[in-house]
Formats: sequence, C-alpha cells, structure tokens
Amino acid sequence: MSRSIQAIRGMNDLLPDVTGLWQEIEARARDVLHAYGYREIRLPLVEKTELFARSIGQATDIVEKEMYTFEDRNGDNLALRPEGTAGCVRAGIQHGLLHNQTQRFWYTGPMFRHERPQKGRYRQFHQIGVETFGMAGPDIDVELILLNARLWKALGLEHLTLELNSLGTVESRREYRRALVEYLEPFRDRLDEDSLRRLEHNPLRVLDSKNPGLKDIIAGAPSLTDYLDQESGVHFEGLCAGLDRAGIEYVLNPRLVRGLDYYTRTVFEWTTDRLGAQSAVCAGGRFDGLVAQLGGRPAPAAGFAIGLERLIELAALKALPAAENRPQVYFVLLGERASGTAMPLAERLRDDRWRVEVHCGGGSMKSQMKKADRSGARFAIIVGDDECDRGAASVKDLRAAEAQVSVDFDDLDEFLKQHLTNTN
Ligand code: HAM
Repeated sequence: MSRSIQAIRGMNDLLPDVTGLWQEIEARARDVLHAYGYREIRLPLVEKTELFARSIGQATDIVEKEMYTFEDRNGDNLALRPEGTAGCVRAGIQHGLLHNQTQRFWYTGPMFRHERPQKGRYRQFHQIGVETFGMAGPDIDVELILLNARLWKALGLEHLTLELNSLGTVESRREYRRALVEYLEPFRDRLDEDSLRRLEHNPLRVLDSKNPGLKDIIAGAPSLTDYLDQESGVHFEGLCAGLDRAGIEYVLNPRLVRGLDYYTRTVFEWTTDRLGAQSAVCAGGRFDGLVAQLGGRPAPAAGFAIGLERLIELAALKALPAAENRPQVYFVLLGERASGTAMPLAERLRDDRWRVEVHCGGGSMKSQMKKADRSGARFAIIVGDDECDRGAASVKDLRAAEAQVSVDFDDLDEFLKQHLTNTN
C-alpha cells in the first residue's frame, strides 16, 4: 500500500460531525446580516499579489511573510487572499458600485495566511466579513457594532469585550509616528529583532508586540489619542456617544493599532479571555483612504471580519445546538422487490420535506438496522416482500423500546408528522 497523503499543516478538514454547528452559526449570522440590509458578495480566492501589497501594506506581517503567493502559467504574480477587504474594494471599484453610492456588503469564505498554527490560528481559516461604503459619519460605525452585538446575542455568547480606538487621519498618524519613533529610539538596544524591523518600517506595530520584556517601554509610549486631529476626535466622540445611547459597553484601548495599514479613525476588536492567546474573535474599523488608494474615486468605508473558527470554538463551549443535517428516516430494504417500492416512497417523503436516507448495497436485516441506528435517524422504515404485499411498511422507533408498528405506505407522511417536527 502506498503512503497516504496528509492535509497541509494549519489547513483543517471540517468533518460531518462539526459542519452542523457551522451551518447553524452561518444561518444565524445570515439572518442578522439581512436584518440590517447587508447583501452578499462572492469574490475570488485568488487576486493579484499587488492588490494586497497596496492595501494591507508592504511593511505588514501579512504581506511580508504570511501570504501564499505564486506565479501562474502566464507569469502573473498571484496570491491566495489573506483577507476579504482588499478584494471587496477591488470588486466595488471594478463594477462601479462605490462612487456616490452607499453599499452594505457581506461575504464569507476561507482566507489564507502562513502563520504558525496553534489553537485558534490556522493557515486556512474562515471569516464572515462586512464592508460598507459611502458613509462617513460615526453612525455606520455604531451600526457595525450593533450588528456584532446582535449576532453575539443570537449565538448566546456573553463575555465578549469591545475594545475601541481611533487612529485619526493619515496626517495625524504621521505626527504620532514621528513622536513614537523619537520615544523608541533611545530604547533601541532593548528592542527585539521584530520590533527593530517594525521601528524602521511600521513603528505603530511595535505597540502590538507581545514580548513581555518590552511591556514597560510600550506602557510609557506616547498615546495616539493625544495626537488625534480635531475632526477625528469629534468623530470618535460621536461613536462613543452612539454606543452609550445603545447601551453597548466598550473599553478604550489607545494601544489598539491593528495589523493592516489601511485603517483610519475607528478601529475595534471584540476579544474573549476564553480562547487563550488568540483572543480576537472579530476585528475591523474604518478605511476611508483605501478606495482612492486602489484607484477608485474617494469613498469613505468601514467594516469588520469575524474569525469563524474562533467563534465556533466559543459557540461549542456554549453548547449551541447544531443544525440538524442527519436523516430522520432510514429505509431498510430486504429482498428483490424492496428497492423498487422503497425508492419512490422515499421520494414522496422528500417531497413532504423529510430527510430520508435509503439503504444501498444490500446486507442482512441486522447490519442494516445497525446502520440505521448509526445514521442518527429516529425511525427505521423496513420494506421487505411482506410489506410490499401488504402495501404497508414496518416502522421501528430507533430511539424508544416500543415494538415496531405497521403503517400503510400512503400514511407514512401522516405518521411522521405525528411523531416528528421537520427540524428533529
Ligand atoms: P484581521 O484582524 O486580520 O482583520 O482578521 C479578522 C479576524 O479573523 C480576527 O479577529 C480573527 O478572529 C480571524 N483570524 C485572523 N487570522 C486568523 C488565523 N490565522 N486563524 C484563525 N482566525 C484568524 C481582517 O482580516 C480585516 N479584513 C477585517 C476588516 C474588514 N476590516 C475592515 N473590514
């Protein structure tokens, strides 16, 4: 036998036992998104590498060391998308959806980053993301956060903390950057390799360092808030006031800078203390400059993305019920004539919206009943020669000790209605 091939590290198979929970969460999320008027956009998994370099930023971890890039057969430099915002803006510009319009889009699907895999951090992971365009005021920022809060409620999740900050405009950030570099320079000999590199290319990211040895340096750094331009300050106050009015609690975190360069003004993260080091379940903010930066006419924008693996881990901790994707009924077929009779019966029950699995491949009554039990179905419907002659199936409740009963073929739908709802 030849050696079997394993999946790539950090890229997980989602087996049927867990997909029910995924489907349930996706369905609840879709309901919440539609309740706010967001519409789905489906985008390619592969884009030109340049798109990500120009949006996420050349000097970010994602672009510097985490992207899956390759040259295709035409010699074009392409990348598996590490996130959804860049592609969404690209599509919006390309199809003329952004200029002088307001838009609310949502998307979901896999993203790819070559990070060190660990719990809650994978190389292929999934996001549900939202991007809005054409709305400059803090009202849309409030809406995004309300949408998040409603989703957490729909999933029964508590204990998520909302952290908020404002990065100001590109200009005010430049001022701050200058002050930060000035502050950090004298500590050069204490900075680690990563921070030294960041100091050169992207000094705000030094604040993101998890190195405990730098904690005191970071704590003493000047605060971004002190460098906020006046308009950004007013915008941020508007956001906070809106959240106060809505009764949403938040923590101001002047050290929250995010790992992608396109943000302006509002940035936020929903964090949990239940998932170890990977604490951010959802993150986002405004990116008012990105549309123009990618060649469109300027349009304000804001959005977020939820990490589904992390969300699902929390939902599993909360024991959220999974969407039922297992059959309700399992047909056990015995003898030559069974299949010809049972197949059309099963089709009729499916017309009546029951989930029906029909045994294929023959085998003894005993082995088929075992499969019926393992399928998760509530009832086994047994069809053999006798049943074909009588025009009635033998029905066995697999989850109760009761004896099997005979049910006319024509009455199967009625029988199931009496014993099951369509969701169990
Ligand atoms: P991000 O912070 O890079 O932002 O990712 C958003 C969320 O995706 C994170 O909070 C986390 O839950 C999840 N995530 C990120 N990397 C991984 C990973 N390697 N494994 C598992 N989960 C992960 C963005 O992607 C922005 N595009 C969000 C955004 C949309 N901002 C504005 N619009």
